[in-house]
Amino acid sequence: QVSHKQEMMKMHEIATHHFRQNLQKSDIVRKYVQERQIAPETLERFGIGFSSDSWQALADIFKRSGFDLDIAAECGLLMKSKNGRYYDRFRNRLMFPIRDVNGRTIAFGGRVIPALDDGESAKYLNTNGTPIYKKSQQLFGLDVARRSVTAQKNIMITEGYMDVLTLYQFGYTNAVACLGTSFPEEQVKRITELSKNVELLFDGDNPGREAAFKACGKLLVKGISCKVVLFPPEDDIDSLLKGKGKELFENLRENRTEGLSFCIQTLKKRSPKDAIEWSREFLGQIEMPELFQPMASKLALGLGIDEAELRLGVVEQKKTQNTRMNFQ
Ligand code: CTP
Ligand code: MN
Ligand code: MN
Ligand code: MN
Ligand code: MN
Repeated sequence: QVSHKQEMMKMHEIATHHFRQNLQKSDIVRKYVQERQIAPETLERFGIGFSSDSWQALADIFKRSGFDLDIAAECGLLMKSKNGRYYDRFRNRLMFPIRDVNGRTIAFGGRVIPALDDGESAKYLNTNGTPIYKKSQQLFGLDVARRSVTAQKNIMITEGYMDVLTLYQFGYTNAVACLGTSFPEEQVKRITELSKNVELLFDGDNPGREAAFKACGKLLVKGISCKVVLFPPEDDIDSLLKGKGKELFENLRENRTEGLSFCIQTLKKRSPKDAIEWSREFLGQIEMPELFQPMASKLALGLGIDEAELRLGVVEQKKTQNTRMNFQ
């Protein structure tokens, strides 16, 4: 099994190299890269590439090199058809290597290139869970960001590949992406190990705001200080920086909202019953006892409810509850 994993890593290394070479060969892809304003240095640093429209390119390379194609299929680089033929899983996509903290590629995300697409495909195709890639544990860009995160004691969290690349280009080298809006518990744990100071840069649309709300709850109960930067509904950090500039971003950043205040703002738009329920579950999960009192006070004050009553509910909940509640 160990050697299978090594083989998978090796195939990902070969694939990364292959995709990077393809990118230089395609005018259409180079044009798309220019449109999205990805600088050559950024392409290089993140190892961005292109999977051509061939069904066989990677499969042939692996076959020639004597790899076990079943293993290539198991780690998501090839697919196996019903009649036993192997073919490339990623085609006609801009390829983002997902790398472990040491910079070794363990998975890929592939983005549709509009000029090469029939309009039917999902915008992103990603490697699913494999023996070398536990999706919920990885953060895209961490290999690049780690040193800055440690030096600055601060980490920026975004939704997507392009968000991390663009932040990097604008000089923010401490950004990672959770690759979507789900922010699973293992990623939370990963982040708590990296920094106690988190800046959330989720998309300005509703799913992004909802994701920021949930993320705040998960981080705050672990004693992590988090701040939310709010973008206009039509923007994510990538489109904002490129379309509206760094100065606007810095303004929004100055006015960022402290995590619990952001939660309170969100809860005020819900029914009082929901707000109280959420608050009690949240308070019941706080891991640092010294944070309980200030957070209970702030929530009660912010929501205009009686603090004693709020806290009573928490105690009762703890008594009746064996497993930790999920306050999502
Ligand atoms: N995502 C995905 N599959 C999709 C849509 C999104 O895996 N069909 C993941 C990708 O990791 C993506 C992230 O969720 O980067 C955020 O999604 P979204 O905001 O829709 O995409 P962007 O990152 O903004 O992509 P782009 O700017 O290229 O349109
Ligand atoms: Mn075998
Ligand atoms: Mn989004
Ligand atoms: Mn985007
Ligand atoms: Mn986005």
